[in-house]
Amino acid sequence: MTATETERERPVADRSADAPLLDVRDLHVSLPSPGGGFVEVVRGVSFRVAPGGFHALVGESGCGKSVTAMALTRLPPADAAARVSGRVLFRGRDLLAASPRELRAARRKGGVAYVFQEAMSALNPVLRLRTQMREALPRGLSRAAADDRLAALLGEVGLPDPRAALRAHPCELSGGMAQRACIAMALAQEPALLLADEPTTALDVLVQRKVLDLLRDLCRARGTAVLLVTHNLALVSEYAETVSVLYAGQVVEDGPVPDVLAAPAHPYAEALLRAVPRIEGTRPEDLATIPGRVPPPRDWVALPCAFAPRCPRAAASCSAAPAPWSGLSPRHGVRCVRAGALAPAPAEQAGAEQEVE
Ligand SMILES: Nc1ncnc2c1ncn2[C@@H]1O[C@H](COP(=O)(O)OP(=O)(O)OP(=O)(O)O)[C@@H](O)[C@H]1O
Ligand code: SF4
Ligand SMILES: [Mg+2]
Repeated sequence: MTATETERERPVADRSADAPLLDVRDLHVSLPSPGGGFVEVVRGVSFRVAPGGFHALVGESGCGKSVTAMALTRLPPADAAARVSGRVLFRGRDLLAASPRELRAARRKGGVAYVFQEAMSALNPVLRLRTQMREALPRGLSRAAADDRLAALLGEVGLPDPRAALRAHPCELSGGMAQRACIAMALAQEPALLLADEPTTALDVLVQRKVLDLLRDLCRARGTAVLLVTHNLALVSEYAETVSVLYAGQVVEDGPVPDVLAAPAHPYAEALLRAVPRIEGTRPEDLATIPGRVPPPRDWVALPCAFAPRCPRAAASCSAAPAPWSGLSPRHGVRCVRAGALAPAPAEQAGAEQEVE
């Protein structure tokens, strides 16, 4: 395959970035199956994150978002026990070819920092915040200098009494405060990329927005790029610049957020968008849902299109062969046999059996 064909084949939300910070190419991850052997749960995922950019990976539960995110620096379950292939170019260096030591370095200063969904599980319950946050700071700082730096960070994320928070154990913080502390801890390592995997799902809606506003503002001020993993397209529309829509371990559509949301080309992306609640005038009966469930990963490979069993637009041509990647514009692409030939779906075909999780 020539370089041009390879480029055309792969979904890349931000082709305009000459030197992306993160350039994920054809990432495959297979995990050990309880019944023996391996099952592929990430199937040729490609996307880019520009320096200082805000990219989102969106999709339903079980689509492979977290495994993709963890595979970038080979964290469990995408660690040595998994089979991982492709390229993860971070500042031009392939992290999949890096040694364990180089990977650890990539997770430290100037590298990739993670913020996870459950702040309380991410924090060690028996250690004071100060002890665990100091791990994120460069070595060699005096205790006083480290405390000053950490207190300043905790102040920036909105903890009312940062010095007292440093002495606190995680159980003394509310969920929102603990998540803010996790953001502070991630920022303490001055990452170039902050990877936030469902960072606000465990929080109530008002706190969610505050925490995401904070995360966006702090990253913007520092020039830190964000990779947000979420099932919530409403958050994507508010915070992200570019988006990759994942289904059954593949990117099925990607592009700049305004383009994808204004004219989603993949029936799954379209269905996700119709499932977003809108406050004004929304009646329960207006809320579209996607019928059925994501099939289990062991069934994905047998389906030319894994969305076909749930797709209101499926036709005979869909089962002939896997859909190639088609570019709708230089920065907007889709993986669907019928892309381009589709008129908007009739409202009644949205189904009502299974809410998007
Ligand atoms: N440790 C593991 N061992 C085996 N299979 C796993 C493991 N972790 C995830 N999987 C499987 O890999 C697939 C993708 O999981 P992943 O956690 O990436 O989904 P997700 O899109 O992040 O979902 P959610 O929105 O629920 O977090 C799922 O079918 C899941 O069951
Ligand atoms: S390829 Fe066919 S079944 Fe799959 S999403 Fe497109 S229209 Fe639906
Ligand atoms: Mg997940």
